[in-house]
Amino acid sequence: MMPGPIQNRRTLSGMRPTGQLHLGNYHGALKNWTELQYQYDCYFFVADWHALTTGYDDTSRLEEYVWTMVIDWLAVGLNPGVATLFIQSRVPEHAELHLLLSMITPLSWLERVPSYKDQQEQLVEKDLATYGFLGYPLLQSADILLYRPQFVPVGEDQVAHVEVTREVARRFNHIFGREPEFEQKVEKAIKGLGARNATLYRTLRKDFQEKGSGDSLLRARALVESNARLTVADRDRLLGFLEGSGIAILTEPEVLLTSTPKVPGLDGRKMSKSYGNTIGLREDIDSVTRKLKAMQTDPARARRTDPGDPEKCPVWDLHRIYSDDATQKWANEGCRSAGIGCLDCKKPLIEKVVEEISGISKRAQEFEENPELVRGIIAEGCEKARTVARETMDAVRQAMSLNYR
Ligand code: TRP
Ligand code: SF4
Repeated sequence: MMPGPIQNRRTLSGMRPTGQLHLGNYHGALKNWTELQYQYDCYFFVADWHALTTGYDDTSRLEEYVWTMVIDWLAVGLNPGVATLFIQSRVPEHAELHLLLSMITPLSWLERVPSYKDQQEQLVEKDLATYGFLGYPLLQSADILLYRPQFVPVGEDQVAHVEVTREVARRFNHIFGREPEFEQKVEKAIKGLGARNATLYRTLRKDFQEKGSGDSLLRARALVESNARLTVADRDRLLGFLEGSGIAILTEPEVLLTSTPKVPGLDGRKMSKSYGNTIGLREDIDSVTRKLKAMQTDPARARRTDPGDPEKCPVWDLHRIYSDDATQKWANEGCRSAGIGCLDCKKPLIEKVVEEISGISKRAQEFEENPELVRGIIAEGCEKARTVARETMDAVRQAMSLNYR
């Protein structure tokens, strides 16, 4: 199957509604989405069910968070004219696919996802020994596979989840179907077994297929499974090919890793809501200015006359995001020679951030004043998403022989 023109390639990503977004969310992800939407057929959704996996005990502000985030998205320039914006829970097919995939997903695949243990250790105040939390990556797999996208733009921290998604799709196809160019890939995989084992594999398969020899099937399986050099994908191909064939039902997505800048928080750690070191996308200007003036700098510059090192200063990371070359040069040299003070250094930065946040706030305000418009955009996006989701579910139900009435 030849890939279509790049604009037609479907791309999907989601974000949990955690309340008002901050500059870290913007420069770390959202800004990239606003560019991708003009390059691909983009689907972006609010992962409200995912928010429940860690925040199940207090759902009182979820609705507010959902709409705040949608407005943040629109305010930064996500364009409902080109991208499909929707809410996960409004497309119940996500839940259906999650359920069906749960039947074929080994527990160990979920238990070994790094975020499972990491988050449990980090969020000790929460009881995350729940079924839903363990299933987080599988719900994400359902989110993705439902739309059969080519690309999933996510940050480094989500790569393991997309990897699980690929494994789940592969297993689904192995059990219920098969992939494009299956024969060619199988041929290659068979050759990869080495001449002797390749001949043995073919003989055993033929024996099983033509004479129904169960013993040959078991021996062929053992041959494949004991081969440590095979990739997981080739192993599944060879195992699938022993018993039959079908069509590709779920497609394995690729991560679209985006090189996003490091966005430092006010204390120099990564900007994150859980650190309380953020600047909100719609924060009021006085507060933004105050926060930036107080922002952590290179501790070596205790006095105005002490030179500093921008590489040790989070303000410098912000310059790299916001300032042009000339300003960066000025800041870098002024810092190292103590030619400028930290407040001088921050001044052009504060201007840029204030300008950005003022613009976002103004556009957000317009959407705040027009809730019907926002509801309408989302209603339309949900409808469009559902149409795609329904098609996938038809194929899934059919492949699983669940399409009876
Ligand atoms: N887990 C993602 C995050 O925390 C959010 C998410 C949920 C997602 N479902 C998704 C991202 C599907 C990409 C695709 O950022
Ligand atoms: Fe940081 Fe600028 Fe101060 Fe240097 S002068 S320490 S880069 S704020």
